[in-house]
Amino acid sequence: PRLAAREALQEANSQLERRIAERTADLRASNERLKGQIRERRQAEETLRRAQDELVQAGKLAAIGQMSTSIAHELNQPLAALRTLSGNTVRFLERGALDTASANLKTINELIDRMGRITASLRSFARRGDDQGEASLAKAVDAAFQVLGARLDSLPLTLHRDFSHAQLQIDQTRLEQILVNLIGNALDAMQAQPAPQLWLEGSSADGKYRLRVRDNGHGIDPETRKHLFEPFFTTKPGEQGLGLGLTLSASLAAATGGSLAVEHPADGGTAFVLNLPLVGAQRAEST
Ligand SMILES: Nc1ncnc2c1ncn2[C@@H]1O[C@H](COP(=O)(O)OP(=O)(O)OP(=O)(O)O)[C@@H](O)[C@H]1O
Ligand SMILES: [Mg+2]
Repeated sequence: PRLAAREALQEANSQLERRIAERTADLRASNERLKGQIRERRQAEETLRRAQDELVQAGKLAAIGQMSTSIAHELNQPLAALRTLSGNTVRFLERGALDTASANLKTINELIDRMGRITASLRSFARRGDDQGEASLAKAVDAAFQVLGARLDSLPLTLHRDFSHAQLQIDQTRLEQILVNLIGNALDAMQAQPAPQLWLEGSSADGKYRLRVRDNGHGIDPETRKHLFEPFFTTKPGEQGLGLGLTLSASLAAATGGSLAVEHPADGGTAFVLNLPLVGAQRAEST
């Protein structure tokens, strides 16, 4: 009986060892599987992170692309004015008209300063948050006409100035940029108009100043009306238009709590309505 008992014990023992060996093998196998899964996850995470890095990089590139087109757009008008002015200055110098030449050089300097202010303001526009500052409407209108000066010489324009000396809650250079864009568009639209007229009509209401820039140009057909404020939408041929003027102007106005809208007067032409907060009026804060 003793013998039988010992054999039974041995049998139990070796069974136990077998089971332990089996379990150990199982554990090892599942351990390997786990390790494999962890490796795969690490690889997936690595791939994901690399994809994210690339996306961030692509986003930055897109933003840089947009910025540089905006800069190119805003610098184009003063550059065109500079080209005309410097050409004229050379001719005045050759003729010995020193006074006119030096007056032109003074304007050239002012335009160059303006271009510096534009790049600076676009930089701050990219940063946002920098939407403080005030502007004099009358000064901005004068500056806009100075930039567009060369184009006005060839156009028998009648200008109706019908606005007050308002102080507006927007950076001076930004207001000038908006006006250059709106008045520039109006001049383009009136190229074929024998008696071109431009109305600058102001009025104030509810802490806002409303400036209406109206022309008697060719107007805007119904199909074009739908796309006016889309970036890069232009009906101008070749290099003449980038299609950014209205997009940029609307976002400059919006950044300071204003707006830009279009009207199509029944008697023809086009009117753009710029609404900007007046200085001193309480800013409409949405909390
Ligand atoms: N006063 C206007 N009269 C008629 N059409 C206009 C007027 N203003 C804008 N448009 C139309 O809206 C389009 C978009 O204007 P926007 O200023 O955004 O771009 P653009 O003038 O074509 O080019 P950019 O301003 O970039 O040089 C113009 O191409 C034109 O068809
Ligand atoms: Mg334009």
